[in-house]
Amino acid sequence: MLTNKNNQVKHTVFCIFFLIFSIGLKAEDGHRLWLRASATSPVIVQCARHSATLDIAVNELKKGWQGRPGETVILKLVKDKQLKNDGFRLSATEIQANSETGILYGVYELLRRQQTGEPVRNELINPSYNLRLLNHWDNLNGTIERGYAGYSIFWHGEDSLAVSDRDKKLWAEYARANASVGINGSVLNNVNASPKMLTSEILQRAKAIADVLRPYGIKTFLAVNFASPQVIGGLETADPLDPEVKKWWYDKAKEIYSLIPDFGGFLVKANSEGQPGPQNFGRTHADGANMMADVLLPYGGIVMWRAFVYDPSDEDRAKQAYNEFMPFDGQFRENVIIQVKNGPIDFQPREPFSPLFGAMKHTAVMPELQITQEYLGQSTHLVFLSTMWEEFLQSDTWQEGEGSTVARCTDGSIFDQKYSAIAGVANIGLDANWCGHHFAQANWYAFGRLAWDNSLSSAQIADEWLKLTFKPEKQFSPIDWNLIFLLPVKQMMLESHEATVNYMMPLGLHHIFAANHHYGPGPWWAPKDWRKDWTPPYYHQAGDDGIGFDRTANGSNAVSQYHEPLTTQLGNLQTCPEAYLLWFHHLPWDYNMKSGRTLWDELCYHYDEGVQQVRQFQKIWDKAERFVDAERFSAVQKKLREQSLNAGEWKDACLLYFQQFSKMPVPYELERPVNNLETLMEKDRRMLHRGPTN
Ligand code: GCU
Repeated sequence: MLTNKNNQVKHTVFCIFFLIFSIGLKAEDGHRLWLRASATSPVIVQCARHSATLDIAVNELKKGWQGRPGETVILKLVKDKQLKNDGFRLSATEIQANSETGILYGVYELLRRQQTGEPVRNELINPSYNLRLLNHWDNLNGTIERGYAGYSIFWHGEDSLAVSDRDKKLWAEYARANASVGINGSVLNNVNASPKMLTSEILQRAKAIADVLRPYGIKTFLAVNFASPQVIGGLETADPLDPEVKKWWYDKAKEIYSLIPDFGGFLVKANSEGQPGPQNFGRTHADGANMMADVLLPYGGIVMWRAFVYDPSDEDRAKQAYNEFMPFDGQFRENVIIQVKNGPIDFQPREPFSPLFGAMKHTAVMPELQITQEYLGQSTHLVFLSTMWEEFLQSDTWQEGEGSTVARCTDGSIFDQKYSAIAGVANIGLDANWCGHHFAQANWYAFGRLAWDNSLSSAQIADEWLKLTFKPEKQFSPIDWNLIFLLPVKQMMLESHEATVNYMMPLGLHHIFAANHHYGPGPWWAPKDWRKDWTPPYYHQAGDDGIGFDRTANGSNAVSQYHEPLTTQLGNLQTCPEAYLLWFHHLPWDYNMKSGRTLWDELCYHYDEGVQQVRQFQKIWDKAERFVDAERFSAVQKKLREQSLNAGEWKDACLLYFQQFSKMPVPYELERPVNNLETLMEKDRRMLHRGPTN
């Protein structure tokens, strides 16, 4: 009897432990993102109307209220001319907006303030951009191009189109996370778009996704393949001026809008990296974009036409998008937006802004950022991208005088444009924590926050995200939490991008990755049969005489695409910021830097500094252990270890390779390389994924 009782007790204790353990596990896999708060007090919410969106707003307040117990909060739809479509007026007890989505965004803002301890005054808050979009590079077979967090949340294969409850639950969680930071549009598929995307079966699934996203204020967009009328429509041509082709697109648009009445529009990668486009039929980018724009106009849809185009010509790749698009400025329809990557090449660790920003004065232009870290350590390296985006958005183009920042040139402050937009290539997949790395969630968050308010500082964004994501559930002294967790970890995030630039590509170096994986170093990588503009030596130009790409008037003259005083400033060695030195100049190894060091020594210092920075991040994180749950702590710790190793490999690979040309020693006060160049090159040779470095 006694033994039985003992066993029962043991069993109960085991069950309780198991329950706590499993709840703990479930709770700390990172799936809850920055949305962890639960209500600490009751609230009364008054809202005169019901709708799917308003009901979400009311529920969120009730589920997350941390303000005065028993407070009454009023949600009110108004007609206020000072509010832009999604904007709202906020006070501690009332949210007013012109639209239901405005109310929803106001609710999330109020809850965020409560959780982060930021004060709520009477404020009017409008978003910077009308359209704040995620671009998913998801393929219909479920893989994700440049995705590092598992398979697609939207697509599981063409023979797996039925929608499950699990799908719907996940899409709703995704939509909620987006809405909480103000993201209001999703492009559901890869820019390298399969023509099959527009078949009726696939469109049915797109409709199902759109239905789940809609209540959260998120519009659905699709990337389309320009040759679709030929490939799935059976037409002989996809010439945009051909009447049958136009009709095909008209009919397709009609079909899409019958399924998705608020469909947002098309994203198009045309005549780029082998994708079909109007030039295949002797037509221009304007011909192609305008045809599609006309088709979508009656429904209020838009066309986002990408400017990521370049050919293997003798012309500097960095100049090609500008050369291609500037002649068409003013020739695009009002509902066309040219989508331009932040830099003139391709999401490199650091690039100057693309000269198209501000230069196209009669055409709407939108920035495309990359949240997925294709060129920044993927889901292994901790890199907070907000500082890079802030640097980009605040870059002065000078196009309309001083202060014509990229932000102001694209958000409608300077140019009169019907639509303003910004897009980020998503880093989201089926991984439990959505993004592969717990800190990569901060980049999703930061993108949304900057899209909403392009003047926010990265320090503010990091502060919010850390408080929301790592709010301690145990009782700690707030002073300890601040001093040992919040401040150092925030500092780590704010330094992390510069650290990566240091150990990968300092002083304006770019695109020196091995092969097509875009992960590890490969400054040597130049198979004879590849296009030159897909190999690192094209970009670093290292030789006995020095290193760097000459883009001054003596070289490719890419500096001339910038507005004065930038052309002069960037072209002149005395005034070119050292962060962009080797982007714009080819210089001898013993060139004298501002620090008094030679260029070679300075390069060595930067690489070494990058490695030291990551070692420091490891210390910061280890010290913060007691403030973080075990699961997330050790996941981040492991990734930091790998990042540290990789940073060392980057340093050694680049310095030992470039040293063959500089023939100078690594400064003796710096740590010596610990890898041999041959070993690193051999490692690269063994990598399975071979292909062009495009
Ligand atoms: C990069 C990336 C490709 C992608 C392309 C694009 O080159 O490596 O995978 O398709 O950008 O943005 O279109």
